Amino acid sequence: MRSVIDILDLSVEEIDQLIAVADDIIANPAKYREACKYKTLATLFFEPSTRTRLSFEAAMLSLGGNVLGFSDAASSSAKKGESVADTVSVVSGYADIIAMRHPKEGAPLVASMKSLIPIINAGDGGHFHPSQTLTDLLTIRHEKGRFEGLTVGLCGDLKFGRTVHSLIEAMSRYTGVKFVLISPDELKLPDFVRKTFIEDKGLACQQVTSLEAVMPQLDILYMTRVQGERFFNEEDYLRLRDTYILTPEKLKLAKDDMIIMHPLPRVNEIDTRVDDDPRACYFRQAHYGKFIRMALILKLLEVEV
Ligand code: CP
Repeated sequence: MRSVIDILDLSVEEIDQLIAVADDIIANPAKYREACKYKTLATLFFEPSTRTRLSFEAAMLSLGGNVLGFSDAASSSAKKGESVADTVSVVSGYADIIAMRHPKEGAPLVASMKSLIPIINAGDGGHFHPSQTLTDLLTIRHEKGRFEGLTVGLCGDLKFGRTVHSLIEAMSRYTGVKFVLISPDELKLPDFVRKTFIEDKGLACQQVTSLEAVMPQLDILYMTRVQGERFFNEEDYLRLRDTYILTPEKLKLAKDDMIIMHPLPRVNEIDTRVDDDPRACYFRQAHYGKFIRMALILKLLEVEV
């Protein structure tokens, strides 16, 4: 029984296999329609979500399975003080696989130690978000055709942005990748990510505050929202939230084939006029999420189609 708590729980070869299965699902959805008949996914979301929870549920329903769960800690017995470990021990008896989001870093790891069924970390605080990274990798493979040799600009809240941390972990395993970290000083990439996945691996990296200065060199621009919910101080959030706003004017500096990604939700960091630019692929990215999550559910449930 395997869980996915960190993207590195999956090897590069396994990620290639998941992408191949997701591509087959996109091409032949009918083949998978009953693959998880009589299987149940529990979505335990102690924090808000639109894409992750609904794409996991859509994924299981498209595989012919069932879903149950909660979308708000306040409607679960966490509100009465139940621990994550106890919740998971109980839900293990009701479902075959769990997708869990929790505001506390490490909560899904603790859950996986208690669980009798696979746990997928659907985002833990400002730490990691591996299933978003699978979505991002499927998007990059479709839009750029490769992972190797890409210059990836990550812009915005690199401190609390868990999607950024997991994407750096994943992309650091491909040769010739260069990271350009674009953030205000207060929202820089945490040391545990920069040191372990960039410096210790000897990867090329540039840390800047100006998006315009680096735009011309980027193959991928990965925009992120400033994560207001993780700030201790409302004043700091209000000061930093609009540091970067991507506009059509700024995009004139970018390569014609640069792609613009965003895990979403977007607040103000991408002007809606950018949505019509063919390089904007964040809504396609969100749609890929369902297919790669279908592939992940099949793998963790050891279902062969
Ligand atoms: N990308 C992402 O995690 O979105 P949600 O918060 O809506 O799930």
